[in-house]
Amino acid sequence: MNVALFSGTVYGTAEEVAHHAVKRLQAAGHHCHYQPRSTLAELLAFKPDALLGITSTTGMGELPDDLMPLYSQLRDSLPATLRGLPGGVIALGDSSYSDSFCGGGESLAELFDELGVIQVQPMLRLDASESVTPETDAEPWLNAFVTALEAGRGA
Ligand SMILES: Cc1cc2nc3c(=O)[nH]c(=O)nc-3n(C[C@H](O)[C@H](O)[C@H](O)COP(=O)(O)O)c2cc1C
Repeated sequence: MNVALFSGTVYGTAEEVAHHAVKRLQAAGHHCHYQPRSTLAELLAFKPDALLGITSTTGMGELPDDLMPLYSQLRDSLPATLRGLPGGVIALGDSSYSDSFCGGGESLAELFDELGVIQVQPMLRLDASESVTPETDAEPWLNAFVTALEAGRGA
């Protein structure tokens, strides 16, 4: 499958998780498009069969600035070609921000709902106050994501 990944980051952690996800997906035989600060045109030109969004949270529950152009383009155009695709969201946050924990990921999950992208498993929350190894922590979720994509393809 063609899996398009995109990320939102302030300090680079979400990009590291995205690169790790690319390796995992490629190892399972998928083609990946991942470019930090990708435009909507670039994303659609790849003709994705699945979407994986990975974002941290900044401010008080906000998406990082580097994801805002793509987020706005997606929300304003709601491309019909994405409707019905399988997808997933990995949210990075810090539970010490109790009221806005992983708020960026929640915004992305809401956008997926608006787009009609079907989350094949619940959003993963990676908590910076619990762990300093987000790539490793994401592995079980990524394995399940790969399995869910394969199950969906066979259906
Ligand atoms: C200024 C600032 C504001 C933050 N606000 C939130 C927040 O509202 N909710 C949350 O869950 N995490 C918040 N975080 C934590 C980051 O999302 C978390 O450390 C994440 O791992 C950073 O990933 P990044 O390097 O990809 O930006 C904040 C961090 C900073 C520095």
